[in-house]
Amino acid sequence: MWQPQGFYNQYVLRTPVLLSGHESIRGLYNYPASRIAVIHGESFTYQDEFTAAFSDKDIRFRKRSWKGEPDLDGLKETIGWLEAYNPDLIIAVGGGSVIDGCKICRLFYEVPYYEHGNTRLNGGIFNTGFVAIPTTVGSGAEVSSAAVFLDHENHRKDMIVLHELLPDVVVYDSRYVMNSSDRLLISSALDAMAHILEGYVSNIDNSVMDVAAEEGMVLLRENLKLILRENESPDPGRLQYAGFLGGIVQNHCIVGAAHAVAHQLTDHGYSHSEAVALLLPAVIRMNSSDTKTTEKYGRIAVKSGFDDIDDMTAFIEQLLHFSGIDERREPLADLLRDLMQDEAVRENIKNDRGGKGNPVEITDEYIEQLIGSI
Ligand SMILES: [Fe+2]
Repeated sequence: MWQPQGFYNQYVLRTPVLLSGHESIRGLYNYPASRIAVIHGESFTYQDEFTAAFSDKDIRFRKRSWKGEPDLDGLKETIGWLEAYNPDLIIAVGGGSVIDGCKICRLFYEVPYYEHGNTRLNGGIFNTGFVAIPTTVGSGAEVSSAAVFLDHENHRKDMIVLHELLPDVVVYDSRYVMNSSDRLLISSALDAMAHILEGYVSNIDNSVMDVAAEEGMVLLRENLKLILRENESPDPGRLQYAGFLGGIVQNHCIVGAAHAVAHQLTDHGYSHSEAVALLLPAVIRMNSSDTKTTEKYGRIAVKSGFDDIDDMTAFIEQLLHFSGIDERREPLADLLRDLMQDEAVRENIKNDRGGKGNPVEITDEYIEQLIGSI
């Protein structure tokens, strides 16, 4: 299916068919495929349920061949397995790194001649169906046209962006995220919040996405405040919807400085979500130097039930403290001070494709002040 590519304006991309709820995998029973490849992360225990959902079809399971964030070398074994099996449906079950890795595996399985940087492969390039089943709440990878991978040589993240990478179907079953620790739940929900806030104030204006962002922020506030109360817990299904809304906002409006900096940190021991969560309050403070941006932060804060921007930022800080993520605040600032000595890292941040939406230009001075504000 054709999708607009390479320009930014008011448009809404095809969004995947959504199946949600308990055992919603069963909704795929009549998906037009006969050879199904399920690629999953470390702790996948639903083989029987998946096999039953595709009872008269050939289904095979494979643990991903890459560790953590995907890198091109780590993907090769899974691509080889796909070529040998020759499936007509690929199902990715896992967090953002599993889903993104599977997007790239499917791309090279179908288009072995693909050259990085080519964004013109648009319109019906895939014969293989693609289903994403997230097991974390906030990455938004299941509704993203980007597939992020690690470039070890330059210690940074890079990404392939093609709207054709969007899954055909997303399955949300809250049982798959039930076993997440509070720390993982909070960091991934704050990653979703960063997609919403960075997309909302981004210099790519899309009024339809503003509505998605505001509703996503309501869901996050309502559910995350329950984590902070004794004997109450959030609804993981509602957090998945917030992650979905954050993902589509990110996909249309790009993100900002929190992501641009976080993308340089994965190879230095910081998970994407914890790095973004720690950077988000400082980025809000930095971007508030711009009047129009302050106005937008204030608007989404009030629409989602906060008193003002300060109340919203204090809520994020409270979550960082409660989860223990803020123990890494000082080490993060020290690491960044160290990394900033390297001009290549500063250039990576300024040129990061994820950070292009930041409403205030990311300069050396901006980065320096940002680190001081973490
Ligand atoms: Fe993110």
